[in-house]
Order: sequence, then C-alpha cells, then structure tokens
Amino acid sequence: MDDAKHPPRRAVDLEAEADLARCGALKDFWYVGCLSSELQGKPLSRTILGTPLVLFRDAQGRPAALLDRCLHRNARLSAGDCFDGKIGCPYHGWVYDGSGACTEIPSLGPAQQGRLLDAAGHAKAGLEACPGDVGRVPSFATREQDGLVFVYLGTDVTQARREPFRVPKVEEPGWTVYFMVTRFPNGVTNLVENFMDVPHTVFVHRGWFRNRKVRPVPATVARRDGEVLVTYEQQQDELTGAGFLMNPTGEPMVHTDHFFMPNVTRVDYLWGARSGYVISSQVTPIGPLESLVYTSISYRLPWDVPGHLVARGLKRAMKWYTTQVIGQDVDIMRVQNEGFTRAKRGLEFTSTEADLLHADIEEVRGWLREGGSGDGPEPANRRIEFWI
Ligand code: FES
Ligand SMILES: [Fe+2]
Repeated sequence: MDDAKHPPRRAVDLEAEADLARCGALKDFWYVGCLSSELQGKPLSRTILGTPLVLFRDAQGRPAALLDRCLHRNARLSAGDCFDGKIGCPYHGWVYDGSGACTEIPSLGPAQQGRLLDAAGHAKAGLEACPGDVGRVPSFATREQDGLVFVYLGTDVTQARREPFRVPKVEEPGWTVYFMVTRFPNGVTNLVENFMDVPHTVFVHRGWFRNRKVRPVPATVARRDGEVLVTYEQQQDELTGAGFLMNPTGEPMVHTDHFFMPNVTRVDYLWGARSGYVISSQVTPIGPLESLVYTSISYRLPWDVPGHLVARGLKRAMKWYTTQVIGQDVDIMRVQNEGFTRAKRGLEFTSTEADLLHADIEEVRGWLREGGSGDGPEPANRRIEFWI
C-alpha cells in the first residue's frame, strides 16, 4: 500500500454523520421533515439524524416537532391522536401542546392536581403535583415553505448556517412542479454523490435516461461557500425519455449540477428560456444507511398551450417516468450499501478526475462533520473531462 501517493483525505463516516450527537455542524441546518400535504389531522412519526420525532399542527395550524417520547412512561406520542392543536399520548392520555408543554393529565381528574398528598408528600415520593410541574417534551423549531415542512435539530436556531432550501421555480409562471418522497437504503453522502453523478446514468439508467456514446464531456467544477457547481460543456446531450419531450427541436442545452451543503442537490437541464426541467433532491438523514429524499421536479414545455395545460396533463406520465428512474437509483444505492457492509469495511473510495465533484462534496461534508469551524474548504475552480 502506498499511503504517500496522495495527501490523506477524510474518510466518509456514515455512522457519525447520521448521529445527532456526533455529526458536528451537520445538525446546524434545516432538514425536511415532511411534505405540507402529509401533515393533516394525524401525527406523523419521523426520524432525523437518529432522533425520533412526532410532527403535528398546533392550534394555529403551524407545524410542531417534538421528541417522540411521552414524559410519563415514554410511550411513542406519534401513536396517539391530535385534537385542538395538541397531541394526546396513546397510553394514559397525557396531552401536550405544540411547545411540548403538558396541558392535561386525565388521571388527575377535573382539578388537574394531586389532592391528598401535600407538597411535602409529593416531594418525598418524587411525584409531580400537576401538569405544569412535569416539564416539557423537547421541541424543535419548524418552518413551512414551498410545500415542505422543515425541522431544525441544532442547538440554536438563530445560528442556522443556511435558510431552508427554496424549491426551484415553485413561484415562476409557466412551470409545473411536483414532489416525490423516496426512502433510500444509504447515507446522505452517497446519495448526494449519486444525484450529482453523470457517469452512472449510462449504466444505471441505460435506455431510460441516457445511453452510452463513448464521448468526452468537459466540465467546470467550482467549489465555494459550501457549494459545488458543475457546469457541463455539452450542448447536445441525447437524453432519452423526458429529454426528447422537453427538446423536440434540438435547442442547445445548458446543464448544471449544484450541491448545496449539507444535503441538497439541484440539477438543471434548460433549453433556451422556454423549456427545461429542474430536479432538486433534499436528503433527510434517518440513520447511517437510511434516508428519505424529497425530490421536486419542476418542468416547462416548449410548446405548451395557455395555462400550461399540457404540462399539467402530463404530470401523471412524468411521475410514472421519474418514479422508474428514481427506483433505479434506489436499487443501485442498495447495491453500493451491500458492497461495503458485506465486506465489513467502512467506505474506502478510489477516485479519478471524473470524481472531482464527489471529492469536493466529501470535503465539505467532512469539514462540517468535524465541527465546521473556520471558512471551510477554500474556493477552487477546475476544468475536468470524463467520458460517457
Ligand atoms: S406513557 Fe404517555 S401518558 Fe402514560
Ligand atoms: Fe441516477
């Protein structure tokens, strides 16, 4: 083994990066907890960075996020019910509001107060007297934006390192946008690399998205402020499937892939001002080998009628198509997972020029995992070439 060949690179540690206690500054960001449309009358159970949460809407209709654990005997609150903007535990019915404060303990009767023991008697036996005394279920800041509910698990929400990611084109006229939620059997670093990765498309999505032509693709990889922007110099990409739909007349294509720390990718395929699609993927870490990916697909057709009725009408077909393609990524992410877990080794990557953007992503996420102090990886701008 020749360790001196390259300067040492940080190894990706999926265990640490998905653990709230060990993920360093990776927790100081907003993560998607659910779609707005998922948060209706019933409580939702979600796990972010290994932390079990219950999500529901408070009395004002705002999203609330609490640790999914009742103060009483620690039952899972997400198995309970919501009413009047509060959540009731399924075991003995303790009720909590959106801030995690206990507002009702049914077994204390209408007075909501222990009646026969005096204060000294309660204290001596280690008992609380009333709902106001039991403390609060830990709560987490939430934000609702662009049809998504975000949760912040860091120590201080005023210190969040970024605002929640804005869904591309969501408010631009002429664009149709829909969401997909997909469970992936792999960790965040591997997933954002996959979503930014062009070379795999000619293998994993052969016949569905892009076919192999054995030709070079020059690109620029710019790393700056926790972002990695890849601009491809590839004006005519013979995309199959949706690509043909979007570009029947063969306009020159602008293709960029953009990573935003710590967990978001945005892929743009644009043909002139009138046509294109933009895919954003926000990865929420559940555990080391489990993630929920919130994908937005925004698209605009070059030949649509007023009210973009054709684009809207095509949504079902688009959803079906994108579900197939994402399913191929789920499968390959499982295959990668099996590769390193069955060998009982951590991730040990070998990279070439075609992987420069991935090395940049690993650099940024590694820096955050180690605490994210200082300015982070220095800005860099490089030209590369790979073949597809
Ligand atoms: S465990 Fe929740 S009310 Fe008893
Ligand atoms: Fe893919």
